[in-house]
Amino acid sequence: MSKKIKKILAKKNRSKIVSLTAYSKNIAKILDKYCDIILVGDSLANVLYGMKNTHQIKLENMIQHSISVSKGIKKSLLVVDMPRDSYKSPKQAKKNAKLIVKKTNCDAVKIESNFKNYKIIRELVKSKIPVMGHIGFTPQFKKKFKIEGQNHREIKKLIKEALLIEKAGAFSIVLECLTANAARKITNLLKIPTIGIGSSSFCDGQILVTDDILGLSGFYPKFVKRYVDLNSIIAKAVKKYSKEIKSKTFPKNKNFLYAK
Ligand code: KIV
Repeated sequence: MSKKIKKILAKKNRSKIVSLTAYSKNIAKILDKYCDIILVGDSLANVLYGMKNTHQIKLENMIQHSISVSKGIKKSLLVVDMPRDSYKSPKQAKKNAKLIVKKTNCDAVKIESNFKNYKIIRELVKSKIPVMGHIGFTPQFKKKFKIEGQNHREIKKLIKEALLIEKAGAFSIVLECLTANAARKITNLLKIPTIGIGSSSFCDGQILVTDDILGLSGFYPKFVKRYVDLNSIIAKAVKKYSKEIKSKTFPKNKNFLYAK
C-alpha cells in the first residue's frame, strides 16, 4: 500500500478528509495545497462537456483530463473515475484500470459500486490497483435522483453493500446523497474512511464538485455551498475587456511587443 493511501486511512476518526474534483491542471494546482484527495470525476461529462448525464463519457476523455490534472498535483491523492462502460467485466475493468494508471500516474480509481460489481473491486485490488468505492445515488446506474437510506430496510441494504465493498479491498468509499442516519451508521461500522457528498457531516470526509462551490456550474442543490460567485466575477472581467477593446483603451503602448 502506498504512503499516500496509508495517510488517508490514518485520518479515520482523527481528522476530516478534504476532497474536491478537478478536470484540468490549473485548478488542480490550486486545490492541491488544501485537499487530501483530488478526483477526476466523470461529472466532467455534465459539468464540462454539457452532456445530459455521465453515461457517454469515454475512457479517453477521462485519461486526457487526468493527465492534465496530474500535472498540477504535488501532494494530494489523485483518484480517477472509471466511466460506466469501462468496467463491465473483471477482465475489462483490469485492462482499463491498468491503462488509466499507466497513462495518468494516478494513485487510485473510483468505481460506482453495488451488489453486482463489488467483485470487480476485488480483482483490481488483487492486481495492486487501489480502489475507491461509491454507493448511494450512483449516477452511472440510477436514472432518477433519490435520497438513499430513508428507512430501516434501505439502511440495512446500504450497510451490506458498504461492508462488501470494504471486504473486497476498497481503501475508501463515497457515500452520495444518503440520509444522515445511514451515513453515520456506515461510517461507524467501516474501518475504511467514508467520503460524503450530500450525506451529512457524520462522514470521515467530504467531496463536492469544484465548479459548484466556485459558482461556475449553475448547479446548486441544498448540499452544495457556493463559496464564491465566479460566474459574475468572470462576466465582469470579460465585460471590461470587451469595453476596453471597443474604446481602444486596450492594448496600450505598454502592451505592444514591438512598438515601431
Ligand atoms: O463524478 C464525480 O464528480 C463524483 C463525485 C463523488 C463528486 O463522482
